[in-house]
Formats: sequence, structure tokens, C-alpha cells
Amino acid sequence: MTGEIGEIDEIAETGETGEIDEGVAVLRRGGLVGMPTETVYGLAGDASNEAAVRRIFSVKRRPPDHPLIVHIADRSQLAGWSAHVPASAAVLADACWPGPLTLLVPKADHVLAAVTGGRDTVGIRVPAHPVATALLQRFGGGLAAPSANRFGQVSPTTAGHVRDDLGGDVDFVLDGGACPIGVESTIVDCTTSPPQILRPGGIADEEISRLLDGATEGSSGPTRASGMRASHYAPRARVEISETVAGATILAAQLASDGLAVDVLDPTADLVVAAQQLYVWLRDADTRGLDVLVAVLPPSFGLGHAIRDRLLKAAGRG
Ligand code: TXA
Ligand code: MG
Repeated sequence: MTGEIGEIDEIAETGETGEIDEGVAVLRRGGLVGMPTETVYGLAGDASNEAAVRRIFSVKRRPPDHPLIVHIADRSQLAGWSAHVPASAAVLADACWPGPLTLLVPKADHVLAAVTGGRDTVGIRVPAHPVATALLQRFGGGLAAPSANRFGQVSPTTAGHVRDDLGGDVDFVLDGGACPIGVESTIVDCTTSPPQILRPGGIADEEISRLLDGATEGSSGPTRASGMRASHYAPRARVEISETVAGATILAAQLASDGLAVDVLDPTADLVVAAQQLYVWLRDADTRGLDVLVAVLPPSFGLGHAIRDRLLKAAGRG
């Protein structure tokens, strides 16, 4: 099946070397590369090159106060990007990297204000995709990479999505297949006591809490990462939400009787598949010309936290 880790391993092993080299060359001259990760595709630029970082913001049409995550090749590079590594960050990095987890730590002096939006913290992550790993290892430095979509729109989970969304504004796109997780990384602020989950994502809140012996504040409260304001991850179609299938069906029937093109999205059967497919389903709503997509919210457990969060934001209720 497309998007399984085994298949991506094969892609990375069977001669993408030339492509990786080309990606590195683009990054070294300050260009931007569409980079597959296990969560979503990123729009990557050299995190130490201010012009490249500024171009990421302009291509994404993203306000400058929405900081970027710095991606590094492995855990040993964390100390080089942080003023000091809080104990909670060390525990989570050891347990979850490489993987879908971003840690906010106090930033090292050299980290550009353009990357952090002027904050004294920086978000760091070691992605678990073999193409991202190869690119980061050969590049050597950190890569600032937000999701490779225009601000507020649906995140990309294939190379085709990146090309469709950004066209000629991205210099080179590495094709690593479909992203195996499909929703963004979990973001944990390790500079507070207790640490706080700012964005639910590919690693469940329960797992973060278990790793920190319960000493964490979950994502069920208001989300605090900047850029987490309403109407993100949104297709052109209006998104309505319901806690139950029955409620969604009734609402869809009402909207259809008003003459609107409507469908129901029920992601509750298998949350792993739902996370993988969520952004494809949201994009399909537009391809199919729907006016309204009525989505059933999954329970607040496991990947359900992230799927709920994205659907609520797509509905402008985040
Ligand atoms: O899975 C992911 O995290 C993907 C892939 C490409 O790695 N990246 C991603 O980046 O989702 P982006 O920029 O679309 O979302 C990052 C979020 C934004 O809401 C940003 O404001 C927040 O993280 N963020 C980053 N650094 C922060 C900081 N120092 N303080 C508060 N929020 C921060
Ligand atoms: Mg994003």
C-alpha cells in the first residue's frame, strides 16, 4: 500500500541519491525544497540563511509571528540549537525521535529571530522519513520547514499536493510517496512546568503524558501554539462538524434539501487510516465540488485528538 514505511525505505534505498544531491544543492544556494516527512510534506529552507527563511514566509503567505520548526538529522544536534535542554525535552527526545514530535526548547543565541518570530523558544524535530533523513544528513545543518501549503489551507501529504499548491514557488520537490502518518507532529512546550502539549499530532497525548509520568498539561484546553487560530487546514468547501453519525446524517439531509452539494465524512472506523487520509479527503471535497462536508468527530483518544483538532479548525471552530 502506498505510504507504508517499508515502501518508502525502498524508495530511499533504490537510488534517490541524485535527487537528494540536487535537493542539497538547492538548499545551499538558499532555495526551497518540498521535503517528505512521516507527517506531512514540509517547505524546507536553510534555517541559518535569513533570506531563505524569509522566502518561506512569503511563499506560504504566512504572517511573520508564526514561528517555524527547525528539522535536524538526529538527536545529537539538539544541544546545538538550544540554550539548554530541559529534562522533559531530553526524556521525550530519547523516547520519540526520530518521529512525529516537536519540542519547544530555549533557543540558542545563533537561532535567527526570523525563524522563531522573535521568541526566545525554538521548535525542534527529528523527522522519521528516510528521504528527510538523507537530505538532512547530507545537508548537515538545520532545515526550517512549515507544512508546504499556503497559510490556512490543507496540508500536503503527497508530492503532487505540494506541486499543486505551490507551483513554481518551490524550487525542487523530493517525492517520498504518501506520508505514512498524515497529520502534523505533536508539539510539546518543554520550557514550562509542567510541559504543555500545544498541538495534538502524530504521537498521542496519552503517550506524552505516560513518558512524563503524568506531569503534563494535555491539548484538550485551548491550544497555545501561535498559528493555531481558527480556520486552518481548511478546504474551500464549508466544513460542519457533529459528535455523532446520526447528527451528521440529519444535518447533511437538511443541507441537501436546501440544494447544496453535501457529503458526510466519518473517520471513526480506523483512526490510523483516517489520519493518513484526512487531508486527501478534505482536498477531495473541493475536487468533487462539494458545498459542504459534514464531518463526524472521533473520540478524544490516540490519533483522535489530532483528527478532532484539525476538523474543528477546518470548520473554523478551533
Ligand atoms: O509535522 C510537522 O510538524 C510538519 C512537518 C513539515 O515537520 N511541520 C509543521 O509546521 O506542521 P507548521 O509551520 O505548519 O506548524 C508549526 C506550528 C505553527 O503553529 C507554529 O506557530 C508553531 O508550530 N510553532 C513553531 N515554533 C514555535 C515556537 N517557538 N513557539 C510557539 N509555537 C511555535
Ligand atoms: Mg501548517
